[in-house]
Amino acid sequence: MTIRLWLTFYWAAIIAAILTVAGFSILLLFERQQWGALDSALMEEADTASATLSRLSSGPAVDAIVRRLSQERDLGPRRRVRIVTGGQVIADFGDPNSQLPRVSVDQAVAGIRDGRSGAFRFAILPFRFEGARAMLEDGVDVSAIRQSIARLRTSVLLLLPLILLGAASGGYFIAGHALFPITALADDLARIEPRDLRRRVSYGDINDEVARLRRAINALLDRVERATNAERRFAADAAHELRTPLTVLRSGLEVTLARKRASAEYVEALCAASSTVIALCEMADQLLTLARLDQETSLSREHIDLGALLREVADAVEPLVQSKALALTVKAQDKVIVYGDPILLKRVVINLVDNAIKFTAKHDRIEVEMTAEAQLAIVRVADSGPGIPPRDLPFIFDRFFRAGGHERPGGGLGLSLCREILQAHRGEITAANCAAGGCEFVVTLPRAS
Ligand SMILES: Nc1ncnc2c1ncn2[C@@H]1O[C@H](COP(=O)(O)OP(=O)(O)OP(=O)(O)O)[C@@H](O)[C@H]1O
Ligand SMILES: [Mg+2]
Repeated sequence: MTIRLWLTFYWAAIIAAILTVAGFSILLLFERQQWGALDSALMEEADTASATLSRLSSGPAVDAIVRRLSQERDLGPRRRVRIVTGGQVIADFGDPNSQLPRVSVDQAVAGIRDGRSGAFRFAILPFRFEGARAMLEDGVDVSAIRQSIARLRTSVLLLLPLILLGAASGGYFIAGHALFPITALADDLARIEPRDLRRRVSYGDINDEVARLRRAINALLDRVERATNAERRFAADAAHELRTPLTVLRSGLEVTLARKRASAEYVEALCAASSTVIALCEMADQLLTLARLDQETSLSREHIDLGALLREVADAVEPLVQSKALALTVKAQDKVIVYGDPILLKRVVINLVDNAIKFTAKHDRIEVEMTAEAQLAIVRVADSGPGIPPRDLPFIFDRFFRAGGHERPGGGLGLSLCREILQAHRGEITAANCAAGGCEFVVTLPRAS
């Protein structure tokens, strides 16, 4: 069932309830007003007559009063008046077909009663006559009032469904009109192809709810477009970056296999191929980690002693440090605990130290230092190498960016990986050149509470 039909249905149900209550109230009020005026006039006339009659004895005087009363036409076109005592009718004048109500003198109480056929309405009044209990029945023809009440009831019953039908059709039309912008929006959205995310839904000058919805959808489309473009660029860049070493590897192997060679040449070719494959594996690994970081909303989390992690990395890179005769120092406070993924955080430190080793010359210095504030742990990795050209500084955290061309080994993914890992840990990384030469990377991480 559509929203339009639901709205029409609810609208019709509310209108039906209101119309029913209003219709019945009008009927009730009309009836009360009709009967109220007649009943009090009838009762008053009966009261006056009974007061006079109670002072008389049966005979022509009583007959004259009752006859005169039965000839009154002020309340209705016909009248019937009767006086009865124990088992005797004292006087009875007026319309004989009026069908008196069945009331015995002994049980009679003053009030209004309908005649047996309903055509007459009677005022019943017990009073004392000649020292005994008597009853005056003063009735009037009320068919005209009954007819007008019946007419009003028929009109209400006929009109209610007609008004309801009109209201429901109006409701259906208004609901359709109000929902039109939503259907138009659905059509606009259906036209947006996944390949062409530049399209947007249009909104006019009216600042209504649908315009707000359209703006929100456009903002969402902006974000989806940006994310999709970034993903496409990433895939294209990755393919491009992988192609160069693969081409080098392929041509190297083809040249080697082109003719028979001495075993020393084969060893040299295999060593070259092996280092290319190692670099490719490293890049594939970094790409995989980046892709996982993009997709995963939750990382594995545990408490990590940051000082111990730094010393572990320093031990692991010791052979590399020695091969370049570098001086690596690690200064770290004890018992600084952060909460996060130990493999990923270790990767951050390895990438920074690896860069420092890679980009410094022999005999340079590398300092790894960790200090702690109330809420933050701060890791500084500084070296005395060449530093980063200032124009490249803003881009070194971009994926595949390598400052100063491609002559150095590496895929340009290390720092972007660092930044994304730290973002996932609510941390930060910054880079700056040191005044005394070399550069410095500063990592901040929230301490575990
Ligand atoms: N300690 C450093 N000294 C000088 N330049 C640096 C240093 N660290 C990073 N850079 C510059 O920043 C660039 C980006 O570093 P990043 O770690 O992202 O890539 P990479 O080391 O070239 O490759 P990968 O880390 O993927 O092997 C480097 O190419 C280098 O030019
Ligand atoms: Mg690197």
